[in-house]
Amino acid sequence: MKGEAMAVQEQENVSLPVIPRHIGIIMDGNGRWAVKRGLPRKAGHKAGAKAFERVSEYCEKIGVKYLTAYAFSTENWRRPPEEVEAIMDLLREYLKNAEERREKNSKVRMLFLGDRSALAPDLQEKMDRMERESANKTGITICMAINYGGRDEIAHAARELARLAKAGSLSPEEITPELLEKHLYTRGIPDPDFIIRPSGEQRISNFLLWQSAYSEFIYRDVLWPDFEPEDLRGAIEEFAGRSRRFGGI
Ligand code: FPP
Repeated sequence: MKGEAMAVQEQENVSLPVIPRHIGIIMDGNGRWAVKRGLPRKAGHKAGAKAFERVSEYCEKIGVKYLTAYAFSTENWRRPPEEVEAIMDLLREYLKNAEERREKNSKVRMLFLGDRSALAPDLQEKMDRMERESANKTGITICMAINYGGRDEIAHAARELARLAKAGSLSPEEITPELLEKHLYTRGIPDPDFIIRPSGEQRISNFLLWQSAYSEFIYRDVLWPDFEPEDLRGAIEEFAGRSRRFGGI
């Protein structure tokens, strides 16, 4: 890690004390950003999608391996239908752009976390295809959490284990955290080093509940559409100063 960080410093002329392996982002504050400007809330989500492009490009450039973004939660269905539709349209557009980049040899691997069965069939199909076609990419892995909820994810894993137990291929004693983890949407992905939440709110909102057991939390007062790579650099510096003990001393 240190070597990689040094190489990026030379290349980018920035001083990064460490390059986190996995960053989680709660893209909060889009609505407030729009309201402040007298714009419809969907304009805030559009600006939020642009902010994500800036931040993910920066993460790719500095060598972050995994970036997980909370794009739509299992609770977000409670929003007015036109807002839900606007977010889904932005996801469609994001997928279209990602597909174009893939055709131009982008190294990005895409994964989608969440229950996609409730999404429009065309979106599901695009997500499946993008996962399949980017599966062997070696650059950053972008995990987009869509119709995702941490509790829902754990319940989903529990259901899978219960089915195995009912079928007789698993005994209850064999159920360990390590086994349950293999049934999460994030199986195979390291836990996030830190989770950043902009917009001044300080809560986890059902995001990566299991995976964030030892993650650092970093909060920023800036609204997500105004979030710049510079803000992420500041967050990485703050993270580097934290002392992580993982329950030890
Ligand atoms: C939370 O802000 C944000 C969301 C519920 C949606 C986030 C979705 C996007 C940024 C667009 C899709 C993403 C990509 C990358 C294509 P909020 O609306 O709750 O903000 P508020 O608290 O100010 O109302």
